[in-house]
Amino acid sequence: MKDVKITACAKALPERIVTNDHLTQIMDTSDEWIRTRTGIRQRHLSTGENTSDLASKVATKLLRQAGLAASELDLLVVATMSPDSQTPSVSNLVQAQIGAVNAVCFDLSAACSGFVYALTAARSLMLTLQKKTALVIGAEVLSKLLDWQDRSTAVLFGDGAGGVLLEASQDAHFLAQTLTSFGESAQAIVAGANPAGKFPQTVLQHSPFTMDGRKVYHFATHQVPQLIAATAEEAGIELAQIDWFLLHQANRRIIEQVAKRLDLPLAKFPMNIQTVGNTAAASEGILLADCLADGLIKPGQTVMMCGYGGGLSVGCCLVKF
Ligand code: ACO
Repeated sequence: MKDVKITACAKALPERIVTNDHLTQIMDTSDEWIRTRTGIRQRHLSTGENTSDLASKVATKLLRQAGLAASELDLLVVATMSPDSQTPSVSNLVQAQIGAVNAVCFDLSAACSGFVYALTAARSLMLTLQKKTALVIGAEVLSKLLDWQDRSTAVLFGDGAGGVLLEASQDAHFLAQTLTSFGESAQAIVAGANPAGKFPQTVLQHSPFTMDGRKVYHFATHQVPQLIAATAEEAGIELAQIDWFLLHQANRRIIEQVAKRLDLPLAKFPMNIQTVGNTAAASEGILLADCLADGLIKPGQTVMMCGYGGGLSVGCCLVKF
């Protein structure tokens, strides 16, 4: 086997849609503020489904699309920053729910870069361990990490899951992959922090989501264009030759700024942030599923996927469909 190929893609969103207007009933915000600052109009929020439930729905859809039995899966990677528990991993819970008895399972934590990091990790493992089939799923129930009194973060995020099936291929499909990490800026995005206990007064607790929005905005609008350009260069492809740029859906203004810095038309950057909000590790998988379902991405086209966020981190992946 020479490479791996994306052979199926699916998403799952909680049924409950919460509009910006709805949020104005529980916090001091406005549709106008949220729309103009972020592009978000609504988000899907869980009413009882956990991360593994959404991920399992995606896994079931992927297997159905490909006509594959769960027992034929070799690898199952879930990217998430909102797992059901520290252990077992979400991927193990999905394994049990779908009956993927032969799959090697683990979770990967790289926040909003998680999906691209997981794609890279899964592909590498498939090539080194000669695994033939893998599911890579980004899944989040971020609503359980948020402080619903904090308007500066609560309005930004949504719940959901999206993923792909990777299968062994004799042709090259992953043209370049680059990952970068910036631990010195780790405190810019913090969720679910578990402070160290002082035995015997250890109290179980975790803190809600906090973000230095301006710092993350500056980071994304500078690091993302740089890594996209470096990834294209590694593949030996001109930026203008790339058909689509699927960026993590954190903020419409970040995406506009990245397109501008790269001197590329915004029309090459599909967006669904208006309907789903920021779904962290699920974002890229959900967007890819929407683009494929709409017939936007055609066989033979090249797609630059780019995740960025907590860590801080950025990951890019140039894929030929
Ligand atoms: N409704 C109304 N007013 C609000 C809201 C709200 N929901 N939130 C904040 N405000 C107010 C603030 O209180 C402030 O008021 P003040 O001037 O009276 O003090 C004002 O609006 C401006 O607040 P800022 O935080 O400075 O707003 P900014 O223009 O920076 O926009 C935003 C905030 C949208 C978060 C932006 O900084 C951003 O998009 N940053 C990047 C976020 C990102 O990319 N995250 C991705 C990674 S997430 C992850 O990895 C999980």
